[in-house]
Amino acid sequence: MLSFTSTLLLASVFGSALASPAPAPLPTDIVGQLRDAPTAAARIGLLPDDSQFVFNFFDPLAKATAGKGGKVITANSGTFPAVVGNGAAMAIGLLEPCGMNTPHTHPRATEIQFNVNGTIRTGMITENGARFIMTDLDPGEMTVFPMGSVHFQINEGCAPAMFVSGFNSEDPGALQIAQRFLGLSPDIVAATLNDIGVEEVMGLEALIPDSVSLGTDECLKRCGLPRVSQPTTQRQPRVSGNAFPSGVSASAWPVASKY
Ligand SMILES: *[C@@H]1O[C@H](CO)[C@@H](O)[C@H](O)[C@H]1NC(C)=O
Repeated sequence: MLSFTSTLLLASVFGSALASPAPAPLPTDIVGQLRDAPTAAARIGLLPDDSQFVFNFFDPLAKATAGKGGKVITANSGTFPAVVGNGAAMAIGLLEPCGMNTPHTHPRATEIQFNVNGTIRTGMITENGARFIMTDLDPGEMTVFPMGSVHFQINEGCAPAMFVSGFNSEDPGALQIAQRFLGLSPDIVAATLNDIGVEEVMGLEALIPDSVSLGTDECLKRCGLPRVSQPTTQRQPRVSGNAFPSGVSASAWPVASKY
């Protein structure tokens, strides 16, 4: 054990080093540099500071997908460059009472989800012809969502719950079902729903709450929580990034001349 005086001496000699200055910010093209690196060893060399191998999910500044029901924070190649080349990512879900991570798929990864605390209900459908699978996960339990499966997570408890998810891709991606589907061209949505009517479909996408959203009425009632109004910023804007440009519908195509 060090004596008090030698500890003081060491502290004064190494004081500046012990204060661990903030690491130099990573170059803006670091992900490109990491992807271009000829070897994994070269990638390590591009991340000179050990702190670049730490991702803090509880950092209030960590980028999150958030709504009134909680948030999901993901460490992937975009937010945590140290995973580049390693084929893995991780997410944390912080679900408020009755919070629901709305139905979604991951286009490039299978997910394994571990429940840290609370009771988390999950549901999934993997493909046409496969049955619906539901789980109620207690702390310490996990489940698997195969790549491409449609799944959701809902906190069935009246206290916040947390889950941890691992992915076998450094860029699992996410596609929220309602937010994307209902933003497609209204006549396509209407036709998919057995022609319920374009007017009925118009504006539906504007109702879709941001994920993590409020969950079921049953849960909210049981927990004595109000169904407050929710932000709707994650929906597919009809004006851009859509299946058809604004104002264009499938039936407006000159199909007659072609067929
Ligand atoms: C679960 O853990 C999270 C994060 O520490 C915490 O915010 C939450 O209150 C915990 N919930 C329960 C039911 O213990």
